[in-house]
Amino acid sequence: MATASVDTLYGQRNYPYNCWWVAAYADEVGRMPLARWLLDTPVVLYRTEEGAVVALEDRCPHRQAPLSIGKLRGDAIECGYHGFQFGPSGRCVHVPSMSSPPPIGVEAYPVREIGPLVWIYLGDQSRLDDVPPPPELAWMLDPGFEIRKGRIEIAANYLLLKENVLDLTHFGYVHAATFQITDWVDAPKVAKDGNTVTYRQEFIRTPLIPGMAIPLGLEPGALWNRINSGSLLSPAAQEGRSDFCNPDRSEPPAGRVRFAHLTTPIDQKNMHYFYVFGRDFAREEAAMDMFEKMVIEGFKEDEFVLEQVQSIMSRKPRRGSQGERSVKADAAGIEARRIIEGWMARETITD
Ligand code: FES
Ligand SMILES: [Fe+2]
Repeated sequence: MATASVDTLYGQRNYPYNCWWVAAYADEVGRMPLARWLLDTPVVLYRTEEGAVVALEDRCPHRQAPLSIGKLRGDAIECGYHGFQFGPSGRCVHVPSMSSPPPIGVEAYPVREIGPLVWIYLGDQSRLDDVPPPPELAWMLDPGFEIRKGRIEIAANYLLLKENVLDLTHFGYVHAATFQITDWVDAPKVAKDGNTVTYRQEFIRTPLIPGMAIPLGLEPGALWNRINSGSLLSPAAQEGRSDFCNPDRSEPPAGRVRFAHLTTPIDQKNMHYFYVFGRDFAREEAAMDMFEKMVIEGFKEDEFVLEQVQSIMSRKPRRGSQGERSVKADAAGIEARRIIEGWMARETITD
């Protein structure tokens, strides 16, 4: 399949509906309605009295008020405008001015709560059984890992972040001051396996920056091995991995770091970026706070660049160069585009 042009990729919808996407963190969803715009759809999330997550269309069918400005009544949500109530199935269960409710309702969306994440399915429900489940991110559930998480709304297409985390040659430029990793110069090895693309880069006997050496109990500049890899697991999820190994011993890594870059389109030019990261060493609070500070600063740098890229892409220059010219280091990102095009092509098949 040919890779779509940039215009096709970014000018119109470039995300599949028939896919599990992250809607929220589990600890954000409770007995207060949470409004979130996901895949060009207004969604309200809340929990039933028993604790099950409910996701409904956040638009009252009566006069279009967002249900999220209303209140929970037991397991139902009451619209804040004229008091119509809707149950977890989306069906209207009460209209104050009527003795029995009319046959109206809102859409209800399947959700899955897995560890810290709430996944949502906003696609064709008759195709749900054919859609791959949310990808496994086992380290998030592993008590050996200490994790931190956050969410940023970025004014850029979600695919720009996918490409950003699949080409880490930007480290020496975007993150020169924060991560101080300046040796990520060569294009990584890239392998495709079905609907997954993975890059892998080994740094052998290279000096560790202080932010890596100190948590490992080493002197800054210690010559160690770093094995970095990352995979596009679905249009919604990307995993990054860093293993730190003593070059003089053949034993399992002395430290493992994991990142999940979970992007959910808000619309064509905006995304939610849910990031979860963790490590199995230096897990005490103060050390994790320092790690988190560095990561957040780095992500702000990515946010800045991606918003700048989006603002150029959103406009049509009168003259000058247009389009993109790719290089070897883009191989994983280009493969990711193809994979996502495959997801989208499958959902138009009506067999
Ligand atoms: S707009 Fe919701 S009850 Fe009227
Ligand atoms: Fe980055």
